[in-house]
Amino acid sequence: MRKVRVAVVGCGNVSEKYLPHLQQSPAVELVAVCDPLYERAQRHARTYSIEHAFQDIDQLLVEVDFELLVNLTPMPLHAPFNRKALEAGRNVWCEKPIAADLKEAQALLALAQQHGVGLWGAPSGPISPVFQSMEQVLSSGAIGNVYVAHGIFGWSGPSWPGSAWFYQKGGGSLFDLGVYSLTMLTGLLGPAQSVVAMAGIAVRERVIAGETIAVEADDNVALILDHGNTAYSVTQTGFVYGTQRNDWTIQLIGTEGAMTMAGYAWDPGEVRVYQGDHMSNTGRWETVQQEPQEYVWQGGATYIAECLAKEVQPRLSGAHAVHVLEVMLAALQSAQTGQRVQITSTFPWPLPALEQ
Ligand SMILES: NC(=O)c1ccc[n+]([C@@H]2O[C@H](COP(=O)([O-])OP(=O)(O)OC[C@H]3O[C@@H](n4cnc5c(N)ncnc54)[C@H](O)[C@@H]3O)[C@@H](O)[C@H]2O)c1
Repeated sequence: MRKVRVAVVGCGNVSEKYLPHLQQSPAVELVAVCDPLYERAQRHARTYSIEHAFQDIDQLLVEVDFELLVNLTPMPLHAPFNRKALEAGRNVWCEKPIAADLKEAQALLALAQQHGVGLWGAPSGPISPVFQSMEQVLSSGAIGNVYVAHGIFGWSGPSWPGSAWFYQKGGGSLFDLGVYSLTMLTGLLGPAQSVVAMAGIAVRERVIAGETIAVEADDNVALILDHGNTAYSVTQTGFVYGTQRNDWTIQLIGTEGAMTMAGYAWDPGEVRVYQGDHMSNTGRWETVQQEPQEYVWQGGATYIAECLAKEVQPRLSGAHAVHVLEVMLAALQSAQTGQRVQITSTFPWPLPALEQ
């Protein structure tokens, strides 16, 4: 397989997960890292034998020949850095979200198309074996027609040093966690047509690294999506979950049975299927997918590099990421206004087959 030249911008926590995953792929040649905290870029360059280390993305884009930029910077830099890279004719994989603003996200997709390159964003749940098992169960008809689904992921919320932004405007549990559930549910049931939601701040102050801060972003969200054809899904997420059973966090209920996913969308567990009539107790739950070993949430950029190397269409799409962004923004609008909000974007669905 040919190697795709990859550069990584943002050498913080997440880069520690991405870089080893990228490095082990036969399709990846890591050629540059970039961070204004230069010692971080230099340390990665030494650890992973990467030729170039930069402090400035403009310099990186001018001086190094590469195909795929992996954007692991803080959220406010996602859109401007994605724009710079696309304008320079580079493919981009970006940590979530591709942009904070819907118009900008859509403009970035158009820019990618104009330059003949791709723009993709986390989360990467649809490439997991768990997601594929769930897709197969749905397409086999084993649980009948699905009109009912749920996703619920929450915890007590970040409190580590530097985590205050999760509670500030532009942060919140929906963008941090709800995004995973929404990517899974729209991937399985299709694009959303409209949303109604409630979102609020339950805990008004948080202590981050010993300092008390006022909370400005949602820490408790519940939303309902209309996927068309009278199929509705409910997503709940928050930073107010003292605990949660995770024997199912996603559930789909069909006319002939039901299916659950254990674990979390970033670390999915087993898939169980019930076939038969629940009321007469004629069916039974069966595990159709054991806990997978090979999927890790930080594998999305590697997957894109491998698709570029093989010249195959990835099943992840920027359009899906932008659709989920629109759903989240529309949910917050619905929560504020009390109105149902229409969703205008869509994405190629059913998702393209996963290339091996
Ligand atoms: N931490 C997690 O568990 C996690 C999980 C999934 C996704 N994410 C997302 O990944 C992204 C990165 O998260 P993180 O936890 O690694 O953050 P981080 O703060 O640890 O790292 C961000 C890095 O970007 C660098 N940076 C800042 N300005 C820059 C610039 N102008 N040019 C280049 N680099 C610059 C910082 O110096 C830092 O090293 C965020 O969007 C976050 O939401 C984080």
